[in-house]
Formats: sequence, C-alpha cells, structure tokens
Amino acid sequence: MPVITTIDDLKRLHKRRTPKMFYDYCESGSWTEQTFRDNESDFDKIRLRQRIAVDMTNRTTASKLIGQDVTMPLALAPVGLTGMQRADGEIKAARAAEKFGVPFTLSTMSICSIEDVAEHTEKPFWFQLYVMRDEEYVDNIIERAKRAGCSALVLTLDLQILGQRHKDLKNGLTAPPKMTPPVIADLATKWRWGIEMLQTKRRSFGNIVGHAKGVDNMNSLSSWTAEQFDPRLDWNTVRKLKEKWGGKLILKGILDVDDAKMAAEVGADAIIVSNHGGRQLDGALSSIRMLPSIVQAVGDKVEIHLDSGIRSGQDMLKALAMGAKGVMIGRAYIHGLGAMGEAGVTKALEVIHRELDITMALCGRRDVNTFDRDMLLVPEDFEGRWA
Ligand SMILES: Cc1cc2nc3c(=O)[nH]c(=O)nc-3n(C[C@H](O)[C@H](O)[C@H](O)COP(=O)(O)O)c2cc1C
Repeated sequence: MPVITTIDDLKRLHKRRTPKMFYDYCESGSWTEQTFRDNESDFDKIRLRQRIAVDMTNRTTASKLIGQDVTMPLALAPVGLTGMQRADGEIKAARAAEKFGVPFTLSTMSICSIEDVAEHTEKPFWFQLYVMRDEEYVDNIIERAKRAGCSALVLTLDLQILGQRHKDLKNGLTAPPKMTPPVIADLATKWRWGIEMLQTKRRSFGNIVGHAKGVDNMNSLSSWTAEQFDPRLDWNTVRKLKEKWGGKLILKGILDVDDAKMAAEVGADAIIVSNHGGRQLDGALSSIRMLPSIVQAVGDKVEIHLDSGIRSGQDMLKALAMGAKGVMIGRAYIHGLGAMGEAGVTKALEVIHRELDITMALCGRRDVNTFDRDMLLVPEDFEGRWA
C-alpha cells in the first residue's frame, strides 16, 4: 500500500489505474490549457504569514455552506462521467463525502442516476443542472432531484457550448469506451478497472438514458447530448428555473463582477466563482485572481464559493482568506477515486483537511470562520491591471 501524503500522490495512481481516455478527460483544459495552468500556478503566487506564540488548542474547521453544517467549508464539485473513472464512482464519492461531512454534487452528466445515489446515501446531496433544449426533460429532472431530497440545485452557467479539449477528440472519448485496438491495448494494463466495470450495470449516462425522449441506446444518446445543451440560456431562464426549483440555488461559473451582480440580483443563495477548471474559455483569468473584485462587489449580498485549481488545504486556506465562504474541488477528489475508489476520495479529503488544519495553526488561527486577508502575503499586482 503506497503512502499517500499529497493529492499529487493520488494523481499518479489515478493515471496508472484508469484508462487513458478517462484520465485525460479529467486532466485537461480547453485549447492551449493556459487557464487550466493558471488556476493552479496563481495560488502559488500567494504566500502565508507565519505567526507565533498563539494558543493553538481547540482548533476548528467546522463551518456552514448555504446554512448546512460541514466538517470543513468544502464541497465535491459536479464532475461528468465520474462513474467511468471507477465503477459506480458517483456513489463511492457521495458516500465518502457523506461520511466526511461535506456536500457531494451530482452532475447531470453522471453515470449513476440521481435515484442510484439517493438510494445509496443517507444525507441529501446537491444536484447540478445543465440546461437542455428539451424543456420537458429539464422539468422532469428538477422533479426527480426534488423527489430524491437534494438540498441544493447547482445551476451551471458557463457551458451552453462545449469548450474544445483536444485530448478528448483525439482519444475518441465515449462512455462506455468503444473497443478499438488502442483502447483494448490500454485496458489490458488496467485490469482492476475492467473487472469492476464488468460487475456493475452502470456504464452509461444514468440521468439521461430512459429519461430523455428517444434516447434508449448509445447512438441516440450521443446525438442527443451533442444537440441538447441550450445556447439560449439567459438570466430570464435562470429566474424561471429558480422558481421551478423553489429551494436553495447556487449559480456556478461566475467569473465577472457584472455577472456576479446579476446573480445576486436574481436572488441566488450562493455563487461559485469558477472557470470550469479551465475547461471552457481558455484565456480567461484564474478564479483566485477574479475572487477579490467579486467579493468586493457582492460579498455582502450572496455567499461566495470558489473552485478551479484547488489541490491542497493551503490553496483552500488562501481562497477562504481572500473572502470565499467555501470552496469546491473537482480533480483533487477524482484523482482519489481513480486511485483507490471510495477510500481514495476519503484520502483526498483527509489530505486537504490536514493541510488546512496545520496551516491555519501555523498562521496563528484556530477557527476557519475567522480567516481574513491579514493571513496572506499577496503581491501588489496579483489581480493585475487589465484594460
Ligand atoms: C472531468 C471533469 C468533468 C466535469 N464535469 C462537470 C459537469 O458535469 N458539470 C459541471 O458543472 N462542472 C463540471 N466540471 C467542472 C467542475 O465542477 C469544477 O468546476 C472544476 O473541476 C474545478 O476545478 P478543479 O478540477 O481544478 O478543482 C468538470 C470538471 C472536470 C475536471
């Protein structure tokens, strides 16, 4: 059993144990991947203030996200095809999150369905919605999420059209994979993945197949998804969906002050400052750089979460100290899942939690809810002067 001390350790195992097509799907950004790289490297530019002679006993990372108690202010981000990284991946990740005491978000494009995840968990999870052209499908999936007891709707607003990721096109990404000679050769070295996949029935898009009109096989599924993301999605649609849902609403993919103001105006409970992990608009600024101006503009009106680039508890601490109330992680937990299944997701959460706890102590803080900019050393030009 390898000794795991960082998310990078899990990433290496993920690469070794998962078919190339799915590892690449996770570990890529759009076009030149500049934004994907910036998301991580911009965290490194921020340094920490070492403080001493502060009583470090009775530390706590417990907090609340949209009013829900959490062990630390972090949620698992919605990740499509999670059940292809490891058999029944969404159920495994949701169970790990539940046991750890943080929210899990199920993607519309998941392999396990809303009902599958609800059946295998006890606490409510969050459901992420992509708005599709087929209104009946959207109404129906909102009802399914309500019936499953989901405690928040995470509406993703930065993917009306798919950013191009070269690796997915070159690998011919599909779920399940098409058995071409290179895929067969790759699978021969990923036997554990294959055996587990053969033991589950969940190998296609569980929220779509059997629920969307005319989608009952792989061919109809791929043409349906290609046509379905609704490019007309606008703030009016957001208002209508808010009404239909009627519960806590989190708007995901906000990266601009004007959009953050609109999100606050429509009455979102929280926003996620995010560039989709660098998978959509390549050339956009990193989330952590955009955070301060968004906090300044709407921090008193709406709860602010951040994702994109978080690979450690130190990154998490920096985001919180810069004004986010919580963070989401995507790849960090997918690396855990691909490496070691449910235990790997738990490991990813433990690694981040430990890093957060020790770092806050060495920064002279005992309570995650008291973080502020005073803990950090931020270069004067960090946000940049962009005209
Ligand atoms: C493989 C992969 C699939 C994703 N699928 C979705 C999705 O289905 N819905 C969504 O809103 N975001 C999706 N995202 C974006 C994540 O929710 C999140 O914004 C991003 O992963 C955060 O960046 P990080 O991976 O650097 O933590 C996906 C991200 C990855 C890496």
